[in-house]
Amino acid sequence: MDPLKAIVKADRFPPLDHPALRRRVRKASDLRGVFMDEEALEWLIRQGDPVVYATYEPPVPESAGHLTFGLTIIFAGQVGSEYFMTRGHFHVQRQTAEVYYALRGLGYLLMQDEQDRARAEPLEPGSMVYVPPGWAHRSVNTGAEPLVFIYVFPADAGHDYGAIQQKGFAKVVVQAQGRPVVVDRGAWTRSPGR
Ligand SMILES: [Fe+2]
Repeated sequence: MDPLKAIVKADRFPPLDHPALRRRVRKASDLRGVFMDEEALEWLIRQGDPVVYATYEPPVPESAGHLTFGLTIIFAGQVGSEYFMTRGHFHVQRQTAEVYYALRGLGYLLMQDEQDRARAEPLEPGSMVYVPPGWAHRSVNTGAEPLVFIYVFPADAGHDYGAIQQKGFAKVVVQAQGRPVVVDRGAWTRSPGR
């Protein structure tokens, strides 16, 4: 293929511009089984089924040697106590890494390996995070404006959503007393009186 160039403007919508952009949208109804509060999700779907996040990718072949790159925008919102976030995935080819660079907004990148070690890296404009091979990853918007970031990963890595969804991320990002906190999912779902 020939070289290509895209323009990124995080304060504009859509934030990535290229004539052949692939756009993927995830609405609330696409995210059943992802959030802890299923009733809150169904309520949101009945209220108009908002877009939770979207990705934009210039056309790069999904084959060895190439790098898939693109931009994710996660809108501001909550499902119950939990903030809007991506589905989260391992790469099918576990020995592939990924780089994130945050342009706008506030949030977290949650990561978890197959030994269940978990990390939550705060994201703010300028944050660059390296997701090593073998770590599942999910991003969360804890702010009042869209969270916008760029990602780059080997184009033949593939997405495995099932393994981490079955197990669930060990950490969740929830609003408690009006502010975002990262907590163990087990402790949160068991905690009384919230
Ligand atoms: Fe990834």
